[in-house]
Amino acid sequence: MVKTQQALAKAGKSRAPVTGTALAVRKKRSFAADLYSTAVGKKYAMAISGIALMGFVLFHMIGNLKMYLGAVELDHYAEFLRSLLYPLAPKGAVLWILRGGLLAMLALHLHAAWSLTVLNHQARPVKYQSARDYEVANFASRTMRYSGMIVLSFLIWHLLDLTFGVVNTVGTENTFVKGEVYANVVRSLDRWPVAAFYILANLLLGMHLRHGAWSIFQSLGWNNPRFNSWRWSFATAFAAIVVVGNVSFPIAVLAGIVKM
Ligand code: HEM
Repeated sequence: MVKTQQALAKAGKSRAPVTGTALAVRKKRSFAADLYSTAVGKKYAMAISGIALMGFVLFHMIGNLKMYLGAVELDHYAEFLRSLLYPLAPKGAVLWILRGGLLAMLALHLHAAWSLTVLNHQARPVKYQSARDYEVANFASRTMRYSGMIVLSFLIWHLLDLTFGVVNTVGTENTFVKGEVYANVVRSLDRWPVAAFYILANLLLGMHLRHGAWSIFQSLGWNNPRFNSWRWSFATAFAAIVVVGNVSFPIAVLAGIVKM
């Protein structure tokens, strides 16, 4: 090392770097990536992706209300979604762009949730020894991770059921037919274990949505106590509308209100 430095001095060059890290060039990150590396940034990501997902579940529920108008109306609505901006854009193109956006929002929501959990564990690796004050953290807030994971499992099953039709083929009656959206819904929800699963998953979704809709304001820094009652009403009403709508579908099929 000394020899090398002497050789460098002879050659009129400055001293060699002490370590590799001393010279490591810091990659410049974008503002968004820098923000996302902080807990505040992850909470923002959680809130913004949450708003997008809330928008989807609300409009999905409203769209599904068409099943009360009959098969022609619901199937026509599904076809309308596939033909958005057609013939200006190829059939299905806009829907795939929307699906891509939705998937990106879901991925961001899951990643932010996961990395916030990791940050929390790093901040406090040892569990609390005494009982927590659960008046401040209510049941929904303590169980967001679990309700989220169950809703995610429901979503995967739901897509296999009503979009890909691969779990809807039990028995000869339950054949999935692409494009027959109304008939597929009736064939699926007509089986009470499936209907019960849909109801349970949607009740959990409601719990997740209510706490999520309440937390958005906190995450975005809009948590003035003066607005708390407004926030409470908004979160409760939003979750109730989505749950009542969604739970009504399996009940309507089981009760024979929505039928073939
Ligand atoms: C009882 C309640 C529900 C019913 C009856 C229902 C019905 C349907 C149907 C029929 C489809 C296929 C549409 C088509 O192929 O055109 C679908 C797709 C989908 N559903 Fe649901 N759904 C319900 C609840 C939910 C919930 C709670 C979520 C989210 C947590 C959800 C997320 C999705 C997604 C992401 C798709 C794929 C959309 C696409 O391919 O463009 N659904 N749903």
